[in-house]
Amino acid sequence: MEAFVLLGMPRACITGLGRYVPPKVVKNDDLRQWFDTSDEWIYTRSGIRERRWVEEPASTAELGYYAAREALARAGKSPQDIDLIIFATLSPDMYFPGSGVLLQHKLGLETTPALDIRQQCSGFVYGLSIADQYIRTGMYKTILLVGAEIQSTWIDYHPEGRTVGVLFGDGAGAAVIEATEEPGRGILSTHLYSQGAYAMELCVAEPSSATRRHELPGSYGMRPYMNGKEVFRHAVQRMGEAVQVALATQGWQPEEVDLYVLHQANIRIVQAVAEFFSLPMEKFYNNIHKYGNTTAASIPICLAEAWAEGRLKKGDKVIVAAFGSGFTWGSAALVW
Ligand code: UT7
Repeated sequence: MEAFVLLGMPRACITGLGRYVPPKVVKNDDLRQWFDTSDEWIYTRSGIRERRWVEEPASTAELGYYAAREALARAGKSPQDIDLIIFATLSPDMYFPGSGVLLQHKLGLETTPALDIRQQCSGFVYGLSIADQYIRTGMYKTILLVGAEIQSTWIDYHPEGRTVGVLFGDGAGAAVIEATEEPGRGILSTHLYSQGAYAMELCVAEPSSATRRHELPGSYGMRPYMNGKEVFRHAVQRMGEAVQVALATQGWQPEEVDLYVLHQANIRIVQAVAEFFSLPMEKFYNNIHKYGNTTAASIPICLAEAWAEGRLKKGDKVIVAAFGSGFTWGSAALVW
């Protein structure tokens, strides 16, 4: 790989990070107005203490815009420098078009391509991989990757919605990814997987292209479904495998990685992966206690906060990994 870099094939490097979370804090106990639940149950089962929810009406593209502005400023770039926007979300503003074009317009851009991707919690990792390929081939030099979600509007506030409803939050994260010819830096490898056999284990099945049932009396409507235990079991296994393949590809030992950033779905998933590799939890950046599961936004929010706290320094070895609905999962190995 180093030979390619020397021959002039650029690598993709994250040069700016930003994040935005809505100001409204919703604590676990606040959820008791809808659900038979408790702070103790939510915290011990998931590690979540509170999450952020938007005030309605709100726009996913707008959340992404705030995060993007911060990422661009930190990279010293203006919107006009962007060659491609990749927008990862499971909660777009509209059924169609995607939120990427809305963000493009908000940024004051005229015809910059905007690509929406539907990879749920793995959206940021998939987006990194897509950005990496475009930059390596030389097609684009500067890519804006955004993960943004408004999930408080699809939560099922009926009593039976409590298992899913207590886990999710709103927010956005963004990364500016640029071509670099500096040897040894940037995204070294990405590893993507999916398994549609499990599509129905974690989904919002309506509105759907298959039926108009959601318009009919007695319809199930827009309600999320999750087979929590099954998803948890797969998440631990697949996230562990995704970290393993990144380590093996780079020839890194688990302990020589400076920071692991795993999708924030449940702190117990991160603990299980840490235990599997005999690593201390200090090697993992976590903020699930503050934001819950922000799906495609979770990894870029973590990266932005880790960077702001000085936990991402030039030359650091970093592995990011995610698992989510689809099922989709994957990882990336980077040198900061
Ligand atoms: O981001 C995509 C990936 N998502 C994930 O990876 C999430 C994976 N799954 C999980 O994180 C966990 O399965 C949950 C946090 C969703 C649930 O934890 P669990 O330990 O698997 O709990 P459970 O579903 O087995 O529920 C245990 C009990 C049940 O009561 P019974 O049947 O034992 O009487 C539930 O009805 O807890 C009850 N329960 C609740 N109690 C209070 C379920 N939800 C709640 C709630 N508050 N919100």
